[in-house]
Amino acid sequence: MRRLIIDTDTGSDDVWAIIAALRAVENIHVEAITVVCGNVSLDLCVKNALIACEVANTYFPPVYRGMARPLVREKLFTADYVHGSDGLGEMHLPDPARQAESGHAADAIIDLVMSAPGELEIVTLGPLSNLAMAYLKEPRIAENIKKLWIMGGTGFDQGNATPAAEFNVYVDPEAASIILGAGFPAIWVTWDVACSGTPITPEDVKLLLANDHPIARFCYRCTQSLREYDRKKFGHEEFGIIDSVIMMALIYPEIMRGAYDAYCEIELNRGIAYGYFSIDKHKQLHKPCNATVCSQVDAAAYKQHLFHLLTY
Ligand code: BDR
Ligand code: CA
Repeated sequence: MRRLIIDTDTGSDDVWAIIAALRAVENIHVEAITVVCGNVSLDLCVKNALIACEVANTYFPPVYRGMARPLVREKLFTADYVHGSDGLGEMHLPDPARQAESGHAADAIIDLVMSAPGELEIVTLGPLSNLAMAYLKEPRIAENIKKLWIMGGTGFDQGNATPAAEFNVYVDPEAASIILGAGFPAIWVTWDVACSGTPITPEDVKLLLANDHPIARFCYRCTQSLREYDRKKFGHEEFGIIDSVIMMALIYPEIMRGAYDAYCEIELNRGIAYGYFSIDKHKQLHKPCNATVCSQVDAAAYKQHLFHLLTY
């Protein structure tokens, strides 16, 4: 059984990814959920992670509070304008019965990785602040994790936070830069790749809700703000559930339709390109590769797996 740590800034698309992972009981076991600020404040992200575990209704991994702010940036840039002020489409749910563990997320990552060298995979669905903090405390985690899956970076399209930057990198560019320089066996699924052909269409929604499964209903409901945001901004009814794309690629790697190694770097100057994720795909800089970049995901297979996990 593959063993996984999920690091998340729990907004509505993170919730789909977490629920799907907790229901993929034949493929992976989630050892811990480590929470970082991002889409909303840390407190709300922790609450939403606990809610996701409750909704998944399989098993309850320990949930850890992590960084409440980026490493260097003074102010947290949030995406409540996308996911709603509660991160879950203005559902404003009551506090869950379970609570987070007492330890810090960075320490939980270190303890888990170092107690099982080479065994754990980590997926980051939010800013890289927790993982960078863990690495700064214990650099040996970089060579002791089996694989690191990162949702982040702009790839070859505009960013979603600024024209240059994708949200997860933009919130904590210095953390992302530390991770790129640390030697993790990392595969990046960038924003443009995660968006390509994957948005959920009205026909998909009919399919998802066809058997009136409470989990599917919850997932649809919690994306209400995200759907309204996409409708207003882009004028269409489709909506992207970005974090669930990398989660399906992780659980079912055969849906990845290509990947390449490259030297990547984050722009850290605080101008218009702050947080830009540069990929030297054609090796123009002659620098050693520090990342694997996923180039395409089979969108139909992604939706098929995701919908199965949310409705069985
Ligand atoms: C990322 O930004 C967040 O709003 C989503 O949860 C996702 O992790 C996409 O850029
Ligand atoms: Ca996220």
